[in-house]
Amino acid sequence: MTDVKSKSLLRRFSIIFVGVALIPFIILFFLHSLYDESHRFIQILDAHFSLIIVIIGIISILGFFGMRMMIKKIILLTKTVKEAVIDRKTMLELAEEGGEIGELAKSFFYALKRVDEREQQSKETKKIIYDVLKKASEVLAVVNNYDNLIRLVLKTATDALGAKQGALFSADEGRYALKVWIGNDDVTSEQVMDTAQSYLDQVAGHNRPFLITAKEKSKQSDKLLIPPLVFSPLVYNEKLLGVLCFCGNGYWNKFSNEHMVVVLNLSHQLAVSFENAKINKHSDQTCFETLAALALAVEAKDPYSRGHLGRVGKTAQKIGELMGLPAEDIKTLRDASMLHDIGKIATMHDIFIKQGKISEEEKYVIRNHPVISESIVLHLQTYKHLLDPIRHHHEQLDGSGYPDGLKNEEISRITSILTIADLFDTFMQNRSYRSGMDLTDAKKELDNLVIAGKIDKDVVASLYQIY
Ligand SMILES: [Fe+2]
Ligand SMILES: [Fe+2]
Repeated sequence: MTDVKSKSLLRRFSIIFVGVALIPFIILFFLHSLYDESHRFIQILDAHFSLIIVIIGIISILGFFGMRMMIKKIILLTKTVKEAVIDRKTMLELAEEGGEIGELAKSFFYALKRVDEREQQSKETKKIIYDVLKKASEVLAVVNNYDNLIRLVLKTATDALGAKQGALFSADEGRYALKVWIGNDDVTSEQVMDTAQSYLDQVAGHNRPFLITAKEKSKQSDKLLIPPLVFSPLVYNEKLLGVLCFCGNGYWNKFSNEHMVVVLNLSHQLAVSFENAKINKHSDQTCFETLAALALAVEAKDPYSRGHLGRVGKTAQKIGELMGLPAEDIKTLRDASMLHDIGKIATMHDIFIKQGKISEEEKYVIRNHPVISESIVLHLQTYKHLLDPIRHHHEQLDGSGYPDGLKNEEISRITSILTIADLFDTFMQNRSYRSGMDLTDAKKELDNLVIAGKIDKDVVASLYQIY
């Protein structure tokens, strides 16, 4: 019986066939050999007859159990397939058995595993989309609330710099007040002010960020503002409006030059925002300037894209001037350049700096950033003219761009200029998956896009007058 169990179905049937059909046939042959020609009957001893009965009995019983076991396995497999999702263990046991049933169980097991993987993938897709929507709605919820928007700027910048703590102080006639604190929640404003006061007193004399380096690696990482520290004054029209501070202790022990450039740009943009807020905290212009600060913090999340907004703005402005665009269009180009990628705040920055193949879900998230940028800027009543270039800065003339697949004249001239300034900067900069192209290669790449009918040749010609 044990032997029969471990064989394949075909072999099991063969053995059972031999048992229940061939052996009785041999017995009949044996009986025929006992046939007496003269008396015309079979002479069989009583002992032989008993033996034959016993053999046939045993073979029938073995055949019965052999068949029963096979049928049981088939029934079990059918049942397990039905309840596959619940009973994977039985499926695995059957798969280990070998033979056709084992093979069948194995293939069902792998099919189910694939279904599981798909389910997992779709869970991940849901999570990515949920995270994006959550982050986007977080931004949308604070667009009209100046203080919360400023908090989001500082939070994003602290994360982008990998700093442990971030603080933003307002300054008025030599008096400082803590406006935003990003760090341990159990810390009071008084505690932060007490620790920061001596540093803040030194800020007034500086027009640029200044550093307090870490003398030694501190073990008291839970304490406030432990060096290395960077303090950066927010100066507008030579007036000190506030101070921006980041504390690097805990993650890294030194501020790089790149960090300092980010802090400098951010301080400048926040100073403009502070100045506007003094006049009217809830004006569109204040909101725009603060969103511009947020955009700088967002671009700082990706080390490869730092400085991108500024460079795109400059290039787009120069192209616009060369093409003879009116002053308000040039301003539109500058403003749209500043906010065109702000929607990237809603995405995990590692998607943008990822090496290797990008999944469908990640592609969806990347392609969605112009739409999120647009939905953020939509809140600014007097900046509606920025919506078209922002939403469509990844469209292409042959309709292969995103998010709307616009074609030819559906794409405005201003959008085309922003698209080409953006592409050019992307080609020239290092990315996680390739190093930046030199000018000749970047131009070659743009020429290929012109030949393929994807980008505007006149805009490219103007760009070549600059570079
Ligand atoms: Fe973009
Ligand atoms: Fe961009």
